Amino acid sequence: MNSVYAIIGGSGFNDFHELEDQEKESLDTPFGPCSSGLVRGNYKGKRVCFLPRHGMGHNVPPHMVPYRANMYRLKHLGVTHIISVNAVGGISSFTKPGNIVFPDQVIDYSYGRDHTFFDGSLLEDKNLNEIDFTKVHHIEFTEPFSKVFRQKMMDSALKIVDEDSIHLGSATYGCTQGPRLESAAEIKKLKNDGCDVVGMTLMPELALACELGMEFSAISVSVNWGAGLDEEIISMEEIYKILDQKIIDIKNICLQSL
Ligand code: HPA
Repeated sequence: MNSVYAIIGGSGFNDFHELEDQEKESLDTPFGPCSSGLVRGNYKGKRVCFLPRHGMGHNVPPHMVPYRANMYRLKHLGVTHIISVNAVGGISSFTKPGNIVFPDQVIDYSYGRDHTFFDGSLLEDKNLNEIDFTKVHHIEFTEPFSKVFRQKMMDSALKIVDEDSIHLGSATYGCTQGPRLESAAEIKKLKNDGCDVVGMTLMPELALACELGMEFSAISVSVNWGAGLDEEIISMEEIYKILDQKIIDIKNICLQSL
């Protein structure tokens, strides 16, 4: 089976002009519309979809992203591999603003999000007949990220950015509910729990992709220190400045990993 890739853009990554032959895709799904701006295109002969998670106008907050619609639509477009791009706050020493990590573990602190397809909603779906939605199902989630795809992304990153600015070891992503940032005590708790970075969007995106059998890898760029870890308070201006500086590298790492 030929691979079809999807790149899900996070904050500051709302278009992908580098993709060739872009065609706008329908947003309709049984779960309502997916995030606006979904396109299908090519890059050096590889089939690639691009989906800006927060919509083209960056107007959908993390807790309101239509995660089920997004994952369902990508699966229906034949996507086999997903690259999820996320802006995060840094907690561990190797995650200073501007640094890039490739999470290999996650702790989910989000709540109230539609987090599974195994709730009877796809019983009538004839297009996903390789998955039996009639049965209670508990997906394996010990190592939720694709090891091979994650390694490919790290190899790509080494060719594109300075080795000092990437972390090639394990990294645990703590997913908070947002849209507010955390209190200093919450960041302390996340650190005690073993989180290296904190963000708001990896879950349930990752779990839903796993339920539909898509390989998943994430690239997280630290855009601030977690609350209370720096003397300065977190400024949105500073966050967008770092995102602007990093976006070309992030896009190139994604493209090199296809
Ligand atoms: N916390 C949660 N999500 C984030 C942060 C943060 O500090 N920075 C960027 N996304």
